[in-house]
Amino acid sequence: MNLELTETQTLIRDTARKFARERVAPLARTLDREERFPTDLFRQLGEMGLLGVNLPARYGGSEAGVVAYALAMMEMAAADASTSVAMAVTNMCGELINAFGTDAQREKYVTRLASGEAIAGSFALSEPHAGSDPGALRTTAVRRGDVWVLNGSKQWITSGAYAGVMVVWARTSPAGNKGLSCFIVEGGTKGLIIGKHEDKMGLRSSNTVSLTFEDCEVPAENLLGAEGQGFKLAMVALDGGRIGIAAQACGVGRAALEATVAYVKDRQAFGQPIGEFQGPRFMLADMQTQLEAAELLTLRAASMKEKGQPFSREASMAKLFASEMSNKVADKAVQLHGGYGYIDEFPVERFFRDARVQTIYEGTSEVQRMVIARESFKLLG
Ligand code: CAA
Repeated sequence: MNLELTETQTLIRDTARKFARERVAPLARTLDREERFPTDLFRQLGEMGLLGVNLPARYGGSEAGVVAYALAMMEMAAADASTSVAMAVTNMCGELINAFGTDAQREKYVTRLASGEAIAGSFALSEPHAGSDPGALRTTAVRRGDVWVLNGSKQWITSGAYAGVMVVWARTSPAGNKGLSCFIVEGGTKGLIIGKHEDKMGLRSSNTVSLTFEDCEVPAENLLGAEGQGFKLAMVALDGGRIGIAAQACGVGRAALEATVAYVKDRQAFGQPIGEFQGPRFMLADMQTQLEAAELLTLRAASMKEKGQPFSREASMAKLFASEMSNKVADKAVQLHGGYGYIDEFPVERFFRDARVQTIYEGTSEVQRMVIARESFKLLG
C-alpha cells in the first residue's frame, strides 16, 4: 500500500474537511438535539461530488476512488456521524447500481444519487426478524406481467423517509440465500409505506425508519442484477459498506481524541493542567495509537478494493477494529472530561452515543469475526 496520498485524494479529503468543519460541525449539536435530517447540507454534498466519490464521472461521480472516499468519510464523521452515515449509504447504493445495473439503470439512478437529486439512497436489506442472517428475510417479490409486486417489511432503514432511490431485497423463490433478488425502488412509489422515525441513542439526526411494502408495484426493469443473485449483491455491497463504516468510526474516534486533548490542556487540577499528569497522558497515547492503527487498516482495505483485489477479510478487519476503537476512545474521552463528559455542553457525550451503533450496523462485530475467520481459513488452509 502506498502511504502517500495522490493529488486527487488530497483534494477530496481537503474539500470534505473544509465543508465538514465550516458547515457541518457547527450544526451537529442542534441537528442531534432536534433529530433533524440535514436536507440542505445533503444537496450540497451532492454538488461537491461527495455522494459519488468512487463513481464514474459519466454518471456524475467524482471518479476519485475508494481511498479518497474513505478519507472523505473520516472528515465528515469527525464533524457529524449522522450526516456521514447517510453519505455512506448513498455512496454504497450508487456503487451497487453502478456495478450490477444496466446502462439504463445507471443513467437513471446513479446520476440521481451522485448529484444529490435523490437526496439520499437507502439500503433495505434488514427485516424485523432478520439482521445478521439476511438469508432468512421474508419480504416477497412476485412477477406479474411487467411489474414485480413487493410485500413485506424492512427494519432500521437509514434515510428511509428521505430517500429518492432505494435498493430493496426480496424473496423471489423459497431457496434460502439463493432465493433473494434485489430491486431498485423509487421513494414515493405507491404501496411503499414509511414507518415512524426510530428514537435512537445516537446518530439522532440520521433518519431511521421501518418500511412496509403493500402490493408495491416495481417495474420489471428495476430488477438489479439477475433474479436469485440478490444475496451476492448484498454481500458485495456490504464489503464496500464496511470500509465506509470503518472510516466513520475513525472520524468519530479522531473527533473524540482531539476534543479531549484540548480539554486536558485546559482543565486544571491539583495545581496543573490534567494533561500534565502521567495517567491521562498514557490514556491519550493508547487512544492515539489505536486510532492510527484503525486508520491504517481502513485505508489498506480501501486501497485493495481500489486495486480490484479481494478485500472482504480486510474490510471486516477494518470495520471490527475501527468500531471497537471508536467505542473505547469515546469512552475514555468521556472519562477524561469527568462530569463535563456527561453533559451535552461538550461534544464527547454525542461521540460516545454515536460510536455505539458502529459495532452493530453493517454487520455486528461477531459477523465481522465470522467473515475474518472464513476468509483467513481459506488463505491459511
Ligand atoms: N462476496 C461475494 N459473494 C459472497 C460474499 C462476498 N463477500 N460472501 C458470501 N458470498 C457468497 C458465498 O460465496 C456463497 O455463495 P455460494 O452459495 O454460491 O457458495 C453465498 O454467498 C453464501 O455465503 P455464506 O454461506 O458465507 O452465507 P451465510 O448465510 O453463512 O452468511 C454472513 C454469511 C457473513 C453472516 C452474512 O449473512 C452477513 O454478512 N450478515 C450480516 C448482514 C449485515 O451486515 N447486515 C447489515 C445491514 S445493512 C446496514 O446496516 C446498513 C445501514 O443502514 C447502515
